[in-house]
Amino acid sequence: MILSPASVLLPDRTGLSDEIAYLRAAYPAAKWQSHRNYGELTAFWLHVHASLREQAARLDGMTASFREGRMAVGAFQAAVVPGLNHFLHHLSGHHGIEDQAYFPKFRALDPRMAAGFDVLESDHGIIHAGLEATLDAARTMLRAFGMPGDSRPAVDAYAGTSHILFAQLVRHLADEEEIVIPAMLEHGERRVS
Ligand SMILES: [Fe+2]
Ligand SMILES: [Fe+2]
Repeated sequence: MILSPASVLLPDRTGLSDEIAYLRAAYPAAKWQSHRNYGELTAFWLHVHASLREQAARLDGMTASFREGRMAVGAFQAAVVPGLNHFLHHLSGHHGIEDQAYFPKFRALDPRMAAGFDVLESDHGIIHAGLEATLDAARTMLRAFGMPGDSRPAVDAYAGTSHILFAQLVRHLADEEEIVIPAMLEHGERRVS
């Protein structure tokens, strides 16, 4: 996929341009919930994003606790495996539905949507690669815990890789909301559900 020059790839992005988030100014976040077109799908979308942010923050916090000596290795291992699996499952499922079911419907609302959804789909590819890298780093770390020697380099690698993934996800969720929520308020969520 070729992105327009106005868009910036996820790792370098600090927000979306007005050109891409062209409905953002007309629908400020503080007024979303009181809009007459704010319905179940809009609320559900925001709920899923909130729960992904919460899971990412919990995993990131758990790693920080372990590295700072506030969590024992056994407890960290016991929590990180199911926590990471649940997060990966939830995130992959959400992006799959967006890519296959929702994004094509948003694109069909208005030709101006294309640039935004090119960015969001590109983000999904970058995040997927980050998920794979985080899984690899987690496996390497878990193996290192079971072997003699210093496991710190493997822990540092997992901490760094997963932290980048979580930060990129948080950026993606915020930018996606600035495209998707105003579009549902403008056109009505029935057009995309
Ligand atoms: Fe997304
Ligand atoms: Fe999303």
